[in-house]
Formats: sequence, structure tokens, C-alpha cells
Amino acid sequence: MATTENELTAEVIASFNRTTDPRLKEIMQSLVKHIHSFAKEVRLSDEEWMFAIEFLTATGKMCSDVRQEFILLSDTLGLSSLVDLINHAKGDERATEPTILGPFHVQNSPVLKYGDSIIQRTLDIGEPALVRGRVVDVNGKPIAGALLDVWQTDANGLYDIQESTEVSGNLRGIFHSRDDGGYAFQTIRPVPYPIPDDGPVGKMLRLVNRHPWRAAHIHAIVSAPGYRSVTTHIFDEDSKYLDSDTVFGVKGSLIKKFLPQSDGTLLLEYDFVLVQE
Ligand SMILES: [Fe+2]
Repeated sequence: MATTENELTAEVIASFNRTTDPRLKEIMQSLVKHIHSFAKEVRLSDEEWMFAIEFLTATGKMCSDVRQEFILLSDTLGLSSLVDLINHAKGDERATEPTILGPFHVQNSPVLKYGDSIIQRTLDIGEPALVRGRVVDVNGKPIAGALLDVWQTDANGLYDIQESTEVSGNLRGIFHSRDDGGYAFQTIRPVPYPIPDDGPVGKMLRLVNRHPWRAAHIHAIVSAPGYRSVTTHIFDEDSKYLDSDTVFGVKGSLIKKFLPQSDGTLLLEYDFVLVQE
């Protein structure tokens, strides 16, 4: 029976010794070691422990089919970006860098053709833009038939799943690269947006004097048979918050410029570079 803090920690760690799955054993024992160490370091009070329980309870209650408050919590603590770095060290510096998935990806976006628009609403808002480029390997060889799953906010800073009145599938789409690796879609320029801050995570950000804003970006997951898929963003070079993205998702290589065209629209060109598996 433990009589000191460190003896208690050792006893709890030992209670997982009979875990059959070695990875589960490693994770649980390390979790106990670090969470005990955290509590000891900050000398966690009874009230603070209860505050944390209530915070996590509220975080769980905030989750729904279209709201993932735990991902927001992970994102704002930098855990999502850390896990991304751990697991997707790019290995080849010619490859497109990954960044976080975020909470707004949905399956089964509309399947569209080269050059189609991902705008599925009638409101005339936003700056029209063409996004185009190629999917290539690290030597620049085109990858035909690559799947590009893209999604972004509307000009009001909201994803379609945040808007109950919005047409399903607005500003998201699935494309396949052509034989020359080319892809293209019509859209509007993305805008900076605050992550949903009407829940526990927003409360946390306000308590610590942090803003909830993300730099403007277009999300993409690009995959092709025989290649490692990449989950990433393209950031707008002229966006605010590139240096203080609230979820720590910005990487320099992912920042690109929307170039004004003579017809008043914008052009963003970006090549996705995949690494062979
Ligand atoms: Fe986003």
C-alpha cells in the first residue's frame, strides 16, 4: 500500500503490468506516469481537479454529428499538430507537407469534374477564384487518377456543415487528376475564420487571452494508389493570422498567393507532391 506520492504512482503503473497487448500497456503506463507527474508538478488542488472533470464533461456534451469539441481541444493544445509531426515526418523534402485534418471534413463530398465549381449555393458572395495545379511524384512525374478531396469555408467563414440552411456539399468536392496529373476547380477565396468558440474550448481560449482565429486556407486530402496520402491545407499568403493560427497548423511551404487575373478573378496554382509508399 502506497504512503507517498511516488509510491502511489509506482503502484498505479504496476497495476497495468498484466495488460496483454504490449502497446496498450506502454500507453497506459506512460499516461499514468505523465498525468501523475503533471498533477504533482502543478500541485493540483481538489477544486482544480473538479474543474477539469467538469470541463471535460462539458467538452463531451458539446460533441454531435457536426461538432467535434474534442478535436478542437486537441487542435488548440497543439496535440493534433504534434501527432501530425510524429507520424508524418515528410521524409522527402520535395513532398507536400501535411497539416491537421480539423473537425470539418465529411465523407461523400460531391464527385466533380476537372474545372467544375465547388460552389453549391446561390448567394453571390466572395471573391471568385480558380485553383489549379498538378499531382506529381517527388521527381515531378504526373500522377494520373489521384483523388483530391477539398473543402473550405464560405465567404462568411462557415463550413457547410455549420449552416443548417445551407445546401449540402457547398464548397467541398472530390476530383480526380487527369492523365497529365492536372486538377482544377472554381471556388471563392477562403477567409480567416474563428473556430467554434461557443463551447468549452472557446471558454478556455478566453480565459488564457488567446484568439480563436485560423488563417484562411483550403483543406485537401490527396491520395493515389502506391503513394502515401497527404492531409494538408493551402494557406492564402495575404491572410491574417498566418503567424498566430490558433491550432498551430501553418507551415511555410503551404502558403501560396492568390494572383489577380485580368478578368477580376483570382488564380491559385499549387502542385501536390506525393511520396511513393
Ligand atoms: Fe479549416
